[in-house]
Amino acid sequence: MPSSARGVFADRLPLAAAFVELLATEGVTRGLIGPREAPRLWERHLVNCALASDVLADGVEVCDVGSGAGLPGLVLAIRRPDLRVTLVEPLLRRTTFLSEAVDRLGLQNVQVTRARAEELHGARDFTVVTSRALAPLPRLLQWCMPLVRQGGHLVALKGATAAEELTAARDDLARWGAAEAEVVTLGADVISPPTTVIRALATR
Ligand SMILES: C[S@@+](CC[C@H](N)C(=O)[O-])C[C@H]1O[C@@H](n2cnc3c(N)ncnc32)[C@H](O)[C@@H]1O
Repeated sequence: MPSSARGVFADRLPLAAAFVELLATEGVTRGLIGPREAPRLWERHLVNCALASDVLADGVEVCDVGSGAGLPGLVLAIRRPDLRVTLVEPLLRRTTFLSEAVDRLGLQNVQVTRARAEELHGARDFTVVTSRALAPLPRLLQWCMPLVRQGGHLVALKGATAAEELTAARDDLARWGAAEAEVVTLGADVISPPTTVIRALATR
């Protein structure tokens, strides 16, 4: 376990370690995590995702769209027990794993919903909608912005090309009522590369 994990997870470290163990074993055998990811789960996945919670206010309701194996949603819930997190994922194999992980880790602040994001439009909304590796920004906005409450935020974990994606999607941002869009870099003193998110305010 890297030293960065101790600082980031603090007293939640045992839970984070239990999730890493689950990903490295059943996550791999059940095909949710590539075998090559197993040695780099801590920095590339757990710490990277956990740092995104630095832009989340206390106690907010978060929806993680396209959670896959729980990244970043389950990690946010582990690091921040104050958050109420809904994991949205359409594939049964993945939601089964997610529900089992929530039970085994004893997390009280997570719900698992099997659905495509679009199926929840008009029915559910949240203060924050997160995603990682979900889709290019125009499609991500189309799927996620209708789920963000007015005054809430979209928080999309992106790679080094975040700024270019943001510039190219200016029209899409306007179309979906996403304002004050910015690239935020988190944990530059903790991991390399740092966590990069696109954050935007929902104006309607
Ligand atoms: C590349 S994976 C990323 C998984 C995880 N977020 C991560 O970073 O490891 C994309 C995930 O999005 C899910 N997905 C695809 N289309 C979706 C949609 N319309 N609504 C919700 N989830 C979707 C897929 O089933 C898949 O689990």
